[in-house]
Amino acid sequence: MNSINLFLDFMRTHAAITGVASYLPEYIMKNEELEEMVDTTSDWIMERSGIRERRILKDKDKATAFMAAEAAKKLLKKKNINPLEVELVIVCTATPEYQFPATANVVCHMIGATNAWSFDLLGACSGFVYALTVASKFIETGTHKKVLVIGSDKMSSIVDWTDRRTCILFGDGAGAVLLEPDSEGYGIVDSRMYSDGSGQPHLYQVAGGSLNPASEETVKNRQHHITMNGQAVFKLAVVKMADVAEEMMMRNGLTAENVAYLVPHQANKRIIEVTAERMHIGMDKVMLNIERYGNTTTGTIPICLDEWETKLKKGDNIIITTFGAGFTWGGIYAKWAYDTPEKNDPDSKNTVNEKVTVA
Ligand code: UT7
Repeated sequence: MNSINLFLDFMRTHAAITGVASYLPEYIMKNEELEEMVDTTSDWIMERSGIRERRILKDKDKATAFMAAEAAKKLLKKKNINPLEVELVIVCTATPEYQFPATANVVCHMIGATNAWSFDLLGACSGFVYALTVASKFIETGTHKKVLVIGSDKMSSIVDWTDRRTCILFGDGAGAVLLEPDSEGYGIVDSRMYSDGSGQPHLYQVAGGSLNPASEETVKNRQHHITMNGQAVFKLAVVKMADVAEEMMMRNGLTAENVAYLVPHQANKRIIEVTAERMHIGMDKVMLNIERYGNTTTGTIPICLDEWETKLKKGDNIIITTFGAGFTWGGIYAKWAYDTPEKNDPDSKNTVNEKVTVA
């Protein structure tokens, strides 16, 4: 970008994240519990994925909408915002409450955001980054002033607990962010999204859609669970996550020194390490919590932002990257828009957030 374009970009209205919150179920499933269920070891899981434990939503009558609503309610309380002020709610999820209506419609009702319109966005593990990009356009064009973007997934509802190749990876959780307009140059500066549908056979849920509706046979053949060719996904994820992170840095004149944090989707610690290496940043600048939560799909990135909120400073350059089923991938460059006051409302955080460890 030349200096005039840089100036014009600085002057435009940006969509800024002005608040974050998350919800994680209480139940902790440790690797040792999985050792009892499938032929695996805790050490294998830790070594190959970086995961030690994950959260599981045990309540049979609670699912994706509940977790999304809990995260959103915490966020609104923390920001002291009346739910009636919210204009749009986007829920990204791969495990919707129902086939229809949209989980976002249900969530609006649960949180009392009855003036908002709402829809779901399906981008699998890239859902949150896709949704943040879509939501930012409603703010940048000036049509909306308060938009909630929520990533929520009850992955335990589609995990095949007899498949050792996949059941070790996933966990349940949700995270929410508030987007508001900013005219001082803070917020989402740049984003680049990709998709390649040829990746579909490598990571998908075979049945339950219009091609293979639910039947006795699909249930018997365990086709309502996650089907994944882990190696094929890994091979591309490792390249594309790093590519897009590097692209974000180059397009915006960023160096390893002036990037404050990488906020990566948490699918496998090894994929994240390669991305950090390509960016020439140390792991001290990487938001990493996969060890405690596994892959919560659309929840990973907002949960990280919530856990690192108190460490983030106004003006910090952050790079968000993701890769997931589809294949889908993408990156966002944002200038963090606020400092978090030392004293937070104790109700506004998960207790687990006190345990943040920087890798
Ligand atoms: O967020 C969406 C995107 N998802 C991802 O990015 C996931 C990408 N994939 C991965 O993270 C990795 O491929 C996995 C963690 C899923 C698997 O790690 P891997 O190093 O690629 O293992 P592998 O599939 O190559 O399997 C190596 C061996 C195999 O045994 P043989 O054929 O060499 O005898 C597997 O059968 O490990 C075996 N194996 C296991 N052993 C113990 C597979 N799963 C397990 C297990 N415990 N849970």
